[in-house]
This record gives sequence, structure tokens and C-alpha cells, in this order.
Amino acid sequence: MKRLAILGASGHGKVVADAALCAGWDEVCFFDDAWPRLSGNGPWPVVGAFAEMLRRRGPAFDAAVVAIGHNETRLAKMAALADAGIPLATVVHPSAVISQYARLGEGCVAFAGTVVNVGAEVGDGCILNTGATVDHDCRLDEGVHVSPGANLAGGVVLGAGSWVGIGASVRQGVTIGRNVMVGAGAAVVSNIPDNVTVVGVPARVLRVGGEPDRG
Ligand SMILES: CC(C)(COP(=O)(O)OP(=O)(O)OC[C@H]1O[C@@H](n2cnc3c(N)ncnc32)[C@H](O)[C@@H]1OP(=O)(O)O)[C@@H](O)C(=O)NCCC(=O)NCCS
Repeated sequence: MKRLAILGASGHGKVVADAALCAGWDEVCFFDDAWPRLSGNGPWPVVGAFAEMLRRRGPAFDAAVVAIGHNETRLAKMAALADAGIPLATVVHPSAVISQYARLGEGCVAFAGTVVNVGAEVGDGCILNTGATVDHDCRLDEGVHVSPGANLAGGVVLGAGSWVGIGASVRQGVTIGRNVMVGAGAAVVSNIPDNVTVVGVPARVLRVGGEPDRG
């Protein structure tokens, strides 16, 4: 019996749970600081707060994954789990197509219909959301989120903590800095510096400052 503990009883957490069960985990349970007020997430139980998870209270588990959308928070929680000696799982939905010549880091999730092509390197704690594509030789640093239906062409580089919004596209060879927010539906055709939000077709800077606090 293989049990996965998921931190973050959110909608995103439910998709992680579903993917994990499809991928061969026997059981999942959630930890969330809203416990005990929050006792369930869809069909799955919430069994404790983060402190209980670190102390491995509640039902025992074999590994953990952090299902928190906010990139910086997700990486911080992953580091705390690793410090507590808890193994981090990477969850790949069986319909995802991950090249045998690509690399996915620890604590990543790759949802239904994602494609990661040959030579791509995906750092720890990345979210490859439903139907996202990461083409050949892309390099994603830790804590990146590629939203549903977003497409990265070959050789794209994404800095740590950056978030590519739903349905956005990035032209081949483009480098996007750290903590960049690419707005929904944007087309990124030139390099983007650290710490900005870009929107539109072609993408232009909307403001300084990347990922909003809401995840
Ligand atoms: C880019 C984004 C972060 C901006 O959010 P925000 O800071 O709250 O910005 P606002 O909604 O206040 O919009 C500010 C301006 O930018 C425009 N804008 C916002 N998002 C835009 C987008 N994706 N494309 C084009 N213009 C956009 C707004 O129309 C508004 O223009 P105005 O000042 O002329 O009225 C957000 O709109 C977005 O696209 N988020 C991605 C969400 C996503 O992908 N979710 C997937 C979850 S898995």
C-alpha cells in the first residue's frame, strides 16, 4: 500500500490527488493549515496541519508533494519537508508524454495531456499544468508554473519562480527571467527581464513585480 501526502487542500490539490491515483499511488491524504475546520477535499480526507505533516502525525505516508500554486511558498514548504527528511514525490499523470531524454526534478507535477520533449530540463517543484507543452531543450529553473494549455517552443529558458499563464505561448529560444508573470494568452517573442509581469500579443511589460500573492 503506497500512500501519498499532499500539502494544500485546494482545487489544484484535487488535480494532484487524481493524477497520483491514476499514476499508481494507492491512497492520498491532505494536510492543510485550515485543518481541523477543513476535514475534506473532494473525496479525500484532510488529516492535519503542516506541523503535523512535518512530525508525520496522522496516517503514515511514503512520500509527499506540495500542491500550493504560489511558487515561492511551494518551494519554501518543499525545503521544510526535505529538512524533516520526508521524501518528495513527482507526480506524472499517465497521459502525460515525457521524453525519456527529458528530466523532471523532485516534487514536480505533470498533469493530463502535458508533453515534455527531448532534452528538456525541468527543475524541482515545477507545475506542468493540464495540456501544457515544454518543447525540446527547454530549461525550467525551480518552482516554475506552466499553466493549462501554455506552450513553450524549443530552447526556452524560464527563471526560478516564473509563471506562464493559461494559454500563453513563448517563441523558441526566448529567455524569461526569475519571478516573471506571463499573463493569460500572451505571446512572448523576446527576452523578458526578472521580476516583471508581461501581457498581450506581443507581450509587453504591464508592471514591475511578478507573480501576484494569490496563487
Ligand atoms: C496578468 C495578470 C497576473 C494581471 O493580473 P492583475 O495584476 O490583477 O491585473 P488586472 O486584472 O488588474 O489588470 C490590469 C490591466 O491589465 C490588463 N490585463 C490583465 N491581464 C491581461 C492579460 N492576460 N492580457 C492582456 N491584458 C491583461 C487588464 O485588462 C487591465 O487593463 P486596464 O488597466 O487597461 O483596464 C492576470 O490577469 C493573468 O493573466 N493571470 C494569469 C492567470 C492564469 O493563468 N491562471 C491559470 C491558473 S492554473
